[in-house]
Amino acid sequence: MNASEMTNTSASTSVNGLTRIDLTPRIASELRADQETLLSGHVSADIRALLEERGVVAFRELNLSDEEQLTFTKTLGTSSQDYKITKITMDPLENPNASYIKGAFYWHIDGTMLDIPIFASVMSSRRLSTVGGQTEFSNTYAAFDDLPESEQKALEQLKVVHMFETSQRYVNPEPSFEQLQDWQKHQPNTLPLVWKHRTGRKSLVIGSTASHIEGMGFREGQTLLTKLRDWATQPQFVYRHEWTVGDLVIWDNTGTMHRAIAYPMDSDRLMYRTQVAGDEPFA
Ligand SMILES: [Fe+2]
Repeated sequence: MNASEMTNTSASTSVNGLTRIDLTPRIASELRADQETLLSGHVSADIRALLEERGVVAFRELNLSDEEQLTFTKTLGTSSQDYKITKITMDPLENPNASYIKGAFYWHIDGTMLDIPIFASVMSSRRLSTVGGQTEFSNTYAAFDDLPESEQKALEQLKVVHMFETSQRYVNPEPSFEQLQDWQKHQPNTLPLVWKHRTGRKSLVIGSTASHIEGMGFREGQTLLTKLRDWATQPQFVYRHEWTVGDLVIWDNTGTMHRAIAYPMDSDRLMYRTQVAGDEPFA
């Protein structure tokens, strides 16, 4: 990718022969590609690079089959992770843990309970809700870059304690004792507030699992975490994907937060998600 492509935010450019259209100035690009090219793996390195640069790469009405989505995901992967399709739906017949996915209605990064989070998620739309169900992404690299330098330096000294139960309280604010014990089977994970990636770029590690700041009063930590979430989810850092059936969207989970816009429990919405394993620890 050359310098003019890096700075172009409106007109279409080319990525290894594919048409690239930047969807907002700071996050998300659409790529126009045929199935055969994508499945061949010839452009997978370019897609990974674009993902890291732009956070989100979207393909309109690609209509991959289950098998094709798995094949495509494998072309993006670097590890021997056991690839599989996860069905994201509120329909209890297709997803026995339907209510659990309501946690996705709140800004989060996947895998903050792990030391090495997944690199990317690949999601395709099979059925849509008539109301809501869009997916929003926030660029946590850009959000960090735009902070004043003095604030960046201060934030780089801080560690955040992430807890599974913190994210679950958004959905179930009054858990039973048994429910709480179940959540607490996940041990808290203390992570740097600012992720210094091996590329040299830095991103914020916040979202719905962030409980408090290590060594800081609970209220003070809550104030800072809420302020940073508000900052990182301002319109200039956010892309909202309005789905059509057959779209396929990939996001760099290491440099973005995401959330689904709420949709009714009895909605038909069905998304198929695959994931590309990560190989870079938070710290
Ligand atoms: Fe998620």
